[in-house]
Amino acid sequence: METIRRTKIVDIFRKPDLGAVVSIKGWVRTMRGNKFVKFIHMNDGSTINNIQVVADVETFGEEFFKRISTGACLHVVGLLVESQGQGQNCEIQAKTIEIYGEANPEEYPLQKQKNGPSLEFLREIAYLRPRTNTFGAIFRIRHHMSYAIHKYFNDNGFFYFHTPIVTGSDAEGAGSMFQVTTLDVNNPPRTKEGAIDYKEDFFGGQTNLTVSGQLEGELGAMALGGIYTFGPTFRAENSNTPRHLAEFWMIEPEVAFNDIHDNMDLAEDFMKYLISYALENCADDIAFLSEKYDAELIDRLKFVVENDFVRLTYTEGVDILEKSGQKFEFPVYWGADLQSEHERYLVEKHFKRPVILTDYPKEIKSFYMKQNEDGKTVRGMDVLFPKIGEIIGGSEREADYDKLMARVKELDMNVDSIWWYTEIRKFGTAPHSGFGLGFERLILFITGMANIRDVIPFPRTPNNAEF
Ligand code: 4AD
Ligand code: MG
Repeated sequence: METIRRTKIVDIFRKPDLGAVVSIKGWVRTMRGNKFVKFIHMNDGSTINNIQVVADVETFGEEFFKRISTGACLHVVGLLVESQGQGQNCEIQAKTIEIYGEANPEEYPLQKQKNGPSLEFLREIAYLRPRTNTFGAIFRIRHHMSYAIHKYFNDNGFFYFHTPIVTGSDAEGAGSMFQVTTLDVNNPPRTKEGAIDYKEDFFGGQTNLTVSGQLEGELGAMALGGIYTFGPTFRAENSNTPRHLAEFWMIEPEVAFNDIHDNMDLAEDFMKYLISYALENCADDIAFLSEKYDAELIDRLKFVVENDFVRLTYTEGVDILEKSGQKFEFPVYWGADLQSEHERYLVEKHFKRPVILTDYPKEIKSFYMKQNEDGKTVRGMDVLFPKIGEIIGGSEREADYDKLMARVKELDMNVDSIWWYTEIRKFGTAPHSGFGLGFERLILFITGMANIRDVIPFPRTPNNAEF
C-alpha cells in the first residue's frame, strides 16, 4: 500500500473527509472491547479530543492487542467513517496498525485511574506530565497565549527588544539573584584583602541571572518609542507559595511618553485582549479544564473582559481594608506591603472586579518609580486579579536625573552596576512608563489552575530542578 501522509487529529475533527483513508500517529489513552472488536482511543497532542480507532480482532489476531495498552504509541491507517457511538462525529476503521512503542502496563506511571493521577503525583513525574489531558490543555494554552502576546504588540506597533539574561545589575534592588560564575567555587581567586576577585571571572565582574528586563528595556523605549520584552527571569527568593517560581517568564512593555494613566490603559487593554483571545482560540481546552477543576472559570474570564477595572490609590485601598472588619493573617496599615489576602479581598469581596492600585508608599517600591509631589508616594501601579492577587506590577519611571540620583543615594545603592541607567536621563530624557506581566500568573488565571507549578512544563522552585 502506498504511504499516506500523516493527518493530525485536530485536522480530522475540523474537516472530516468521510470515506477517505487516513494515517494518524499518536498515543493510546484507553483500549476496551471484546473478542471481536477493539476500541482504541488515541491522542496525538494536537487537540484535547481523542479519536476512536475500531479494530477487528480477527484481522490482527488476539495476541497483537496484548502489546497495546495505555501509553503505547501507534501508527494507524484506516478508513474515516461516521461514528456509530455517541460523542464523536467520526472514527477510524483500522486497516493497518504499526506499534511504534509499547508501554508496559506494569510500569507505565499513567495507568488509567478513576479520577486520573493527582496533580501532586504528576509533579513528581514531570517527564510524563505533558501526556495527560490536563497538561496537554495547559501547554497548548501556554503556546496560544505566547503567540497572542506577540500579536498584540506587533499589531500595536511595539518592537520585541531582547534584553540580556546574564547581567551585572540588580533591577529590582531585591538582592535575590542567582549568581553566574566560571570561578572555581571551592577555590576562588582572592584579592589582597581576601575577598573573591571577580576581575578574574568570565565577564571581569560579578554577574547574575536577570530578575527583570526592565532597565535595559527602558533604553530600548527611549530610542524605539515602544518596546516589549518576553523572556525568562530568575528570583532566588525562598517563597514556597502557589504563586512564586524561581524561574518564570515575564512580559515587559515600556513606552516613551506614556504617563501612569496611559500605562494603566495599556495594561487593561492588553489583559482584555489576551483573555478574549484565549476564549476564542482555546475554547476546547478551557472547557475541559473548567469541567475538571473550576466550574466558574469561563464566567470569570468573560467577566474580566466585559467590565472596567477599578482604579484607586493605595491609600484609598488601605482605607477600605482597615474599615472592612475583616480578620487578616497579616495586619494592614498605611505603609504595609499588601499581601495576596488583602489584594484578593479588594478584588473578590469589595469591588468584585479587577483592581488597579496606584501611588504606593515609596519605601515598599523600587527606586526607579516616579516620585510624587507629596514626597511619600511613587507612581507605581499593581493590577490585581481574582484568585491571583498581583498579576502585573509597573510604574511611570523617574525621568529626572537629579531626583533619581537622590533616591539612589538615599537607598545607599551601588550605582556602579547601573551607571548607564541613570546616565541615559542626561540625554534627551522624557516621561516613560511600563509594566511587567508574570506569564505564569496569566496562565494560572486563564486555566483556573491553583498552583503555579502546574502551568509551566518544568517548574523551578526551592529544592526542585531535577527535570
Ligand atoms: O512586580 P515585579 O517584581 O515587577 C518588575 O519586575 C518590574 N521590573 C516590572 C516592570 O515594571 N517592567 O514583577 C512583575 C510581575 C508580578 O506582577 C508577577 O505577576 C510576576 O511578575 N512575578 C512572578 N511570577 C512568578 N514567580 C515569581 N517569583 C514572581 N515574581 C514576580
Ligand atoms: Mg510587584
